[in-house]
Amino acid sequence: ALTLLLAGGLGYLLGSIPFGIVIARAFGLGDLRQIGSGNIGATNVLRTGNKLAALLTLICDSGKGAAAVLIARALADADAVQLAGFAAFLGHCFPVWLGFRGGKGVATYLGTLLALFFPVGLAACATWAFTALVFRISSLSALVAAAAVPVWLWAFDRPGMIVLAIALAVLIYIRHAPNIQRLLAGEEPRIGKK
Ligand code: G3P
Repeated sequence: ALTLLLAGGLGYLLGSIPFGIVIARAFGLGDLRQIGSGNIGATNVLRTGNKLAALLTLICDSGKGAAAVLIARALADADAVQLAGFAAFLGHCFPVWLGFRGGKGVATYLGTLLALFFPVGLAACATWAFTALVFRISSLSALVAAAAVPVWLWAFDRPGMIVLAIALAVLIYIRHAPNIQRLLAGEEPRIGKK
């Protein structure tokens, strides 16, 4: 129980670091929450026009999910490893430092998946990238990729994670409620556009 608590706490703390806000500020781009969608992720950093800052945010936000998993794997058993990844996702979405108003968890989830089970992580990233190539909308790509993860887990014979992946997909859809409304209204901006 103690290892589970530690893995969860470590994952949450790592996940709760709002790299988008930190990086946007460091690049002199202002307060990310006052820009575009107001979200703290790489997609919204890109709306400032600074590609390097957006790329760094993507790497750091997915890296913290991967780091949570890799650290837990070095120290604890399989249950704790999954919990650490899940906690990193929750930390990103509900960080105590921002009054629990965080991001949408997409990059962190993808990083977690890459570290947890690489083929599924890769398939999820490819699903995101393929949808983004076709439609050029970040939120839509995230919604398609999140829904595809349970299918990929089944295809790659990892049924043990399917229930968690369905729960995470539901959370991601809830976090994207404003995006879904804009998508349905045909008003969701393309990647890089305000
Ligand atoms: O990863 C978040 C993305 O799916 C949507 O971001 O800024 O368009 O709400 P945003």
